[in-house]
Parts: sequence; C-alpha cells; structure tokens
Amino acid sequence: PLQSMTEMLNKANREGYAVGQFNINNLEYFQAILQAAEEEQSPVIIGVSEGAAKYCGGFNVVTALVNELMKSYQTTVPVAIHLDHGSSFEKCAEAIHAGFTSVMIDGSHFPLDDNIALTQKVVELAHLHGVSVEAELGRIGGQEDDIIVEDAEAAYAIPSECDRLVRETGVDCFAPALGSVHGPYKGEPNLGFDRMEEVQKLTGVPLVLHGGTGIPTKDIQRAISLGTAKINVNTENQIAQAKVVREVLAEQPEQYDPRKYLGPSREKIKETVIGKMREFGSSNKA
Ligand code: G3H
Ligand code: ZN
Repeated sequence: PLQSMTEMLNKANREGYAVGQFNINNLEYFQAILQAAEEEQSPVIIGVSEGAAKYCGGFNVVTALVNELMKSYQTTVPVAIHLDHGSSFEKCAEAIHAGFTSVMIDGSHFPLDDNIALTQKVVELAHLHGVSVEAELGRIGGQEDDIIVEDAEAAYAIPSECDRLVRETGVDCFAPALGSVHGPYKGEPNLGFDRMEEVQKLTGVPLVLHGGTGIPTKDIQRAISLGTAKINVNTENQIAQAKVVREVLAEQPEQYDPRKYLGPSREKIKETVIGKMREFGSSNKA
C-alpha cells in the first residue's frame, strides 16, 4: 500500500538497512520499480523530480500511474511517492494535493534561517496530510535536471546547523550534503563519514544519501551503519536503460517498435533496482 516514508525509514534505522529511492523518468521506470519491489518483498520509494513529473504530464499523472499500476500488479509492499528536490512551498503543496505521500523541500541554496522557515511551512502542511518531509543542508554537487552545483559550490553540511534545522522544523528525515554527487563520480566518492555520524547523533532522524549511483558497497554499508536509511538512485538506471536501447537498435537497425527496445530496457532497470535493494539490505523487509 501507499504510505509516507516515516515508518519505512524508522524501521530501516532500527533494523540496519536502507530503503532505495528510485527516480522515475518514463513509464518503464514505474513498472520496473514496482515489479522489483514486489518480487524482492522490499519497501520502495518512487522518486519524482519536478522535471520528471513535468515530462510525464504533471503530478496527477504520476500518482494515477502509480495507483493504477499498484492495483494491476496487486502490490502488497509499502510504497511511497516522493517529490525529489522540491523547489518551493507551492510545488510541495501541489504534489501533496495530487496524492504524493512524501516531499523533499530543498532549501539548501538559501541561508539557514530561510531554509528553516521554508521547511517549517512545508512540514506544517505535509503533516496535516500525513505526508513525510525530507530537508537538505549543504550542497550536493553534480547535476540533476535543472539543478547544477559546480564543484566549488558543493559544500559539506555543518553539524550544528543540521541539528538546528531538524529540531526547529520537525522533518521526518534529513539529507546532509557530505560529499556525494548527482550523476557519475569523478574518481572515488569521498564521503564525510565522521560528520555523518555526528549529524545522526545530534539529530536522531534517519539520514538520506543522495547521489547513490557509483558509491562502492563498503561505503554504502558504512553509511547505513551510521544512520543512513534512504539512498537515492537515478543515473545508474538511466545508464542501464540507455545501454540496452543502444544495443538493441545496433543489432536491429530496422527496428522501430518502441516495445521492442524499451521492453528489454525495462528488464534491465528492474534488474538494476533488484541489485540495489539487495545491496541496501531492504529485500524481504516489506
Ligand atoms: O535525488 C536523486 C538522487 O540523489 C540521484 O542521484 O542520479 O547520482 O543516482 P544519482
Ligand atoms: Zn538528489
């Protein structure tokens, strides 16, 4: 059933695993992610960026698709529909009214007081609707949709500020930027584990790791052991999908039926998601 992330992530923290947030890009992602979750008996978070929602036709289309697919697949595992990197109170409100069960308000580019004020407003509305909220501090490098953060701007979150933001807003989970990057990493990621531990101890809420593509398993495990309960993945599925489409079209240059090249790519996305669920330890935790 559809639910917010709160119980999902608190359980993950207690039992020492992380729930994957897998971002959707087109129909095949919805299908692959929901099929993977049911097969693995894993809780799952469907991540929806504003850009991806727009591409699909809006927030209402997204929730309709998820709801109808869950009926058609007879989904039994916990599923959250989560707005990824919500840019404003208005966008969060729109997603909540469309039936999203969770939102992220990304005020990380604002001064701390403004980030707190904005996040408070979103939490007030979201909690009235039983919707969970994720906030961010520091700046995650790389690019996702229209959000581009240059290397020089990327900044690690400061623990005392994290403590203040979480305490004053009542968010359900929290994403401190600690060296992870959206999109492929240049070289090995260099995650700030000491700070991660400090932030978890200070705030006591489940932590979120953005930029899940390309993080080595040992780092994933260490992050989970320090309180990370949610890991976001998008690029890895996109790369897997694109690779299959390229292969099929190279082998069959005359092919024009999208089901013949997107179908196999859907299988590949599903396989990738299943691999992540096992790596994050969420399989059989539904
Ligand atoms: O918010 C979404 C993620 O942080 C995805 O990061 O594309 O590097 O896997 P990724
Ligand atoms: Zn992100």
